[in-house]
Amino acid sequence: MHLVLLGPPGAGKGTQGARLAAHLGMPQLATGDVLRAAVRDGTKQGLAAKSFMDRGDLVPDEVILGIMKEALAKPENAKGVILDGVVRTVPQAEGLARVLKELGTELDFVLVFNAEDEELVRRLGGRTVCDKCQTPYMGRESGTKCEKCGGTLVRRKDDEPEAIRNRLRVFQEQTAPVLQWYRVHEEMGGPRVVHVNAIGPLELVEQRVRKAVEG
Ligand code: AP5
Repeated sequence: MHLVLLGPPGAGKGTQGARLAAHLGMPQLATGDVLRAAVRDGTKQGLAAKSFMDRGDLVPDEVILGIMKEALAKPENAKGVILDGVVRTVPQAEGLARVLKELGTELDFVLVFNAEDEELVRRLGGRTVCDKCQTPYMGRESGTKCEKCGGTLVRRKDDEPEAIRNRLRVFQEQTAPVLQWYRVHEEMGGPRVVHVNAIGPLELVEQRVRKAVEG
């Protein structure tokens, strides 16, 4: 099963993607995590992506298509992957469909996380993430330790107010049209598009996600 998680910044794609991956025993691919690791390691790809990410802009489609292609061809991802934030433009949606077809498979689900901007700003303004495993936390100070791996919690540069505003704008301008693209393709027999109310306690949202996928 291949599944795309689509939604604005702070909607909980990373949080719920990890829970669903553990529940289904499936791998999760988050392009944001891949890119942040590349920035941290100082690779060519990371250096090229850093300024886009810090401002809250999307990195170029070619970079994402390269990451997608490489990851999906790995044997451990052959049975299916939870694709968290991997598709944010129409060319990326087209590219993903093409790559999966070449691999003899297809996308099954698009899970759309819905939440109002006010809540997204509140969440991102209060988020810290582990500098090692990238687990996001709420209500935990920078400099404290990650419960999962012992790494140090930090604030993301793109969680500063101006970058948050830009990310929300970028979502409306470049990623919202992807939803329309998937709706049209659903009518032509493409992947099922399912909306999830992303507001509420983590466990409640998790139940909604499972229900959306498992029925
Ligand atoms: P990425 O890291 O994917 O950032 P994003 O899409 O902006 O998403 P976030 O990680 O901010 O939010 P999330 O939805 O995962 O929420 P989370 O679970 O953390 O991408 C970063 C950048 O990389 C992009 O801006 C771009 O530059 C680049 N990039 C990546 N992919 C790309 C692509 N395909 N094309 C081009 N560029 C790309 O939750 C947020 C907070 O809320 C956490 O603190 C969490 O604890 C809390 N929380 C979660 N759920 C709840 C709840 N139900 N109630 C209360 N709090 C909650």
